[in-house]
Amino acid sequence: MHLGKVMTVFGTRPEAIKMAPVIKELKKVKDINTVVAVTAQHRDMLDQVLQLFEIKPDYDLNLMEEGQDLYSITTGVIDGMKDIIAKEEPDLVLVHGDTTTTFAAALAAFYQKIPVGHVEAGLRTHYRYSPFPEEMNRTLTGKLAELHFAPTDKAKENLLAEATALFKIWVTGNTVIDALLETVRPEYSFSGDLASINFNNRLLLVTTHRRENWGNKMRNIYEALIDLVNEFPDVEVVFPVHKNPVVKDVAEEMLGGRERFHLIDPLDYEPFANLMNASYLVLTDSGGMQEEAPSLGKPVLVLRDTTERPEALQAGTVKLVGTNKDMIYKEARLLLTDAKEYQKMARAINPYGDGKAAVRIVDIIKDFLYVRIGAQ
Ligand code: UD1
Ligand code: UDP
Repeated sequence: MHLGKVMTVFGTRPEAIKMAPVIKELKKVKDINTVVAVTAQHRDMLDQVLQLFEIKPDYDLNLMEEGQDLYSITTGVIDGMKDIIAKEEPDLVLVHGDTTTTFAAALAAFYQKIPVGHVEAGLRTHYRYSPFPEEMNRTLTGKLAELHFAPTDKAKENLLAEATALFKIWVTGNTVIDALLETVRPEYSFSGDLASINFNNRLLLVTTHRRENWGNKMRNIYEALIDLVNEFPDVEVVFPVHKNPVVKDVAEEMLGGRERFHLIDPLDYEPFANLMNASYLVLTDSGGMQEEAPSLGKPVLVLRDTTERPEALQAGTVKLVGTNKDMIYKEARLLLTDAKEYQKMARAINPYGDGKAAVRIVDIIKDFLYVRIGAQ
């Protein structure tokens, strides 16, 4: 029996990584017609993931522009998705996470009264401007969505506290763990940009991109890194730099050409995930890496003042260190000098999933479509 049509919409690197396992599972169900639309809010960073997971979009809005702002992304997604949704008439639109693509695509679906399923629903910092605009994007998407795929119990609690109906929430785990477990291999060998790294040294894996860290905060982070590399001769920083010129220009100005600093282009997910597995410590403002690194037993210093992912924080494998130079230096130094402190944080924990989140999500979608047919 034909169950219906599911349209997935996403636009950035992390959404693609986390939606890929869901698309793979959806495509296994012959009674569901799966349509993939990408906004390409990211271009090259998105394409890297599409290629790895062999996803061929049915629609591509090709929205990215250098220096795009929130208004142009939002209106571009709403305008672009309007006709695609009208033409395809999906029974469900699936979005992921907290980007502007997520919120605008959910709104575009809502305007045509198409039900929205929200993957990675319910994460909250409870600060409207931190992370910005992600906290509001995710909260508003939660209001628009009819199916909420919460990765953890905590995310479910957040949704219940906002009066989301219990029967519309499922705790599924996070699909990032599905993608990670499929990608990390102990025997992985590094090539290309990574061949020049001395893997006998201790690697600090660094990424930064958050809007609220643009400017001086980012500079503080980079200054702390310089001090750490100067102090520890066996430490190397590997920094795949986000394509955003706001990040790239400052990173190159401050860190480019320095000894034991590897400033490289964004890596494909496969080498990146394996590099995380080979690193000593992760310093990042990324959301997804706060989920991945704990699962690999790698301590994370989170370069932010808030996190919507408190589970690893509570487990003690992640620390929020903010963007104060002295604080970052002090906390990283502790982990480089005190083996006991390091071991306390370097424990593999998996509060975010068991690698089967996508299977659960697709089972729930099947039930939803089945009931929908019955109701028509
Ligand atoms: C976006 C999301 C953020 C998410 C992040 C993941 C919004 C508002 N922001 O932030 O939630 O955490 O992606 O990385 O939804 N660029 C390229 N090539 C690419 C990607 C980006 O050149 O493949 C450059 C472009 O100049 C672009 C700029 O980066 O204008 C910013 O991209 P944008 O998606 O607006 O913001 P991000 O900081 O990437
Ligand atoms: N990542 C990647 N290549 C890189 C850097 C990150 O594939 O060079 C992956 C990383 O493993 C994680 C995701 O991209 O799954 C995180 O993306 P980002 O930090 O840009 O976004 P966020 O998670 O903060 O929304």
